[in-house]
Amino acid sequence: MPDLDPKSIAITGASNGIGAALARALAAPGRQLALTGRDAGRLEAVAVACRAKGAQCLTAPIDVRDGERLSAFLGEVDGKVPIDLLVANAGILDGRHADQTVETGPAARRVLEVNLLSAVDTLHSVLPGMQRRRRGDIILVGSLASLIPLPDAPAYSASKAGLMSYGLALREAVANEGIRVVVACPGFVSTGMTDIHLGPRPGEISADAAAALILRGLRENRPLIGFPSVPFWFSRLSIVFPEWLRRRMTQDTRFHVG
Ligand SMILES: NC(=O)c1ccc[n+]([C@@H]2O[C@H](COP(=O)([O-])OP(=O)(O)OC[C@H]3O[C@@H](n4cnc5c(N)ncnc54)[C@H](OP(=O)(O)O)[C@@H]3O)[C@@H](O)[C@H]2O)c1
Repeated sequence: MPDLDPKSIAITGASNGIGAALARALAAPGRQLALTGRDAGRLEAVAVACRAKGAQCLTAPIDVRDGERLSAFLGEVDGKVPIDLLVANAGILDGRHADQTVETGPAARRVLEVNLLSAVDTLHSVLPGMQRRRRGDIILVGSLASLIPLPDAPAYSASKAGLMSYGLALREAVANEGIRVVVACPGFVSTGMTDIHLGPRPGEISADAAAALILRGLRENRPLIGFPSVPFWFSRLSIVFPEWLRRRMTQDTRFHVG
């Protein structure tokens, strides 16, 4: 397996939070970063920080749900400098608002479209090139909610569980083609997303710390990169716990979005 020294990196959701932190952490002379998100101004600010570290940067304000435009952009980048690391990170949180017991149907659909379907579209834009070259790394950004469903955000949980399942299946499918697929499962990270998560957020860490843990996990080629470690292991094991115990585990972290 190749070491982690990507020359051409594409990151979705790079305009803020974990994606921006990964971009900054990966920025170095001799590397090209292709950064996407919707907010052109924030994207450019991240690019400026990355260029200051010596990286070349391309930015493209594209909604991940616009698969055609995103695929065209990634294809163009790949044609010039083959992408050897893709981070499918763009995501949104929605769920129950204060006056609801459950999210609405349209909110659930939007979350699934952005977090699951668009992430799958994104990786398929880049995968054929990696397969031809028999080389490449893919990071899918899931969540601890991939492992333990959140009653306050059912679609978010389902989107992240689906992405984890897709990623682990893909990892096996391409294991002999020189491609590493890892799924990051962060706990609480201080970003724009946590600003709308109104409730307790135990063990919250900074986006820079999360980025460092994700890149270490990729370097170690861990299928699931979960943190913090205690909640990660509880969440992994929770599938075999009786319902009353799972309920007790989640009752102190109930929340609503705002
Ligand atoms: N923060 C946490 O506690 C936490 C925990 C577990 C997992 N995660 C996951 O980490 C990933 C990054 O989230 P974050 O915490 O860094 O949140 P964030 O600060 O809100 O960043 C989300 C990023 O996704 C982009 N994005 C959202 N919708 C998009 C769309 N339709 N098209 C294109 N880009 C879109 C945003 O860019 P624009 O606004 O410019 O479009 C932004 O760059 C997400 O997948 C999230 O589920 C976060």
